[in-house]
Amino acid sequence: MSQYVLSTGEEAEARLQLVDEVHGPDTERFLLQAGLKTGMQVAELGCGAGLVSVRIARRLQTAGQLTAIDINADQVEVARKRIENEQLKNVRFQVSSATQTTLESNQFDMVTCRFLLMHLSQPNAALHEMIRILKPGGILAVEEGDFSSLFCWPPVPAFQRCMHIYRLAGERQGENFDIGQSLFQMIRSHKMSDVKAQLVQPLYSDGIGKTLPLWTLKECSPFVIENHIASREEVGKLAEEIKQLEQNPDVLMGMARMTQVWAKKPFSLTEASQ
Ligand SMILES: C[S@@+](CC[C@H](N)C(=O)[O-])C[C@H]1O[C@@H](n2cnc3c(N)ncnc32)[C@H](O)[C@@H]1O
Repeated sequence: MSQYVLSTGEEAEARLQLVDEVHGPDTERFLLQAGLKTGMQVAELGCGAGLVSVRIARRLQTAGQLTAIDINADQVEVARKRIENEQLKNVRFQVSSATQTTLESNQFDMVTCRFLLMHLSQPNAALHEMIRILKPGGILAVEEGDFSSLFCWPPVPAFQRCMHIYRLAGERQGENFDIGQSLFQMIRSHKMSDVKAQLVQPLYSDGIGKTLPLWTLKECSPFVIENHIASREEVGKLAEEIKQLEQNPDVLMGMARMTQVWAKKPFSLTEASQ
């Protein structure tokens, strides 16, 4: 990843906090459903500001340990501070790539990521690495979005254009903001067993969640303008229109539909689903 479409470090923290308010409760339910339990050894790749890390570490309690990894040292610092503030002692951090963690093979009970694979030019290399560090019988739990699913009702061209701009910015960087659609097949292709999938999509007619689309537009706007995906004037006009939609309780907004896929690492090849 040469240049991130969104900001990183403390700048990104507030937006990631909002993302977690929207998606966090679904993520936590998903991880529990996939088999997250007290006392496990868990690895989280692309931990960002540590919002999912806090949820996992609380569930693991002191008997378990979370290894939280991100390629960006600023993000790891923000995550480390958050974990300290929460007085959680069962997390260790590492700055490294999800495609090359340098961790030992076959050691984790669960390996997980959220909103990571969509940003990678080689998501299958990251999946391969996640499976390598899992114990046989261990659980892979991956949650990624499909940004083609964002909508507002009644439909408004400004909202659709805003989401289109965001996806174009991702494409320009070799990112796949629709990866949720292909996630199940991707994970199956790694010869996992018991592969299961489900969808969740948060909906808002009011409240904090409704501010996420505008926040995202504002944050990616420097990249969008610099790369001539949209002009400064257009971005400004779209931001005003989205703000009005935010404040209108008759407008319903659907956030990114999330694909949640979980599977087990087989003990042998014959156990794999294909
Ligand atoms: C959108 S954030 C998601 C953060 C967190 N998983 C969450 O859902 O709140 C994506 C994170 O992936 C990290 N990242 C991007 N490429 C990576 C790579 N190759 N290896 C590890 N982390 C990476 C970024 O630094 C960023 O913190």
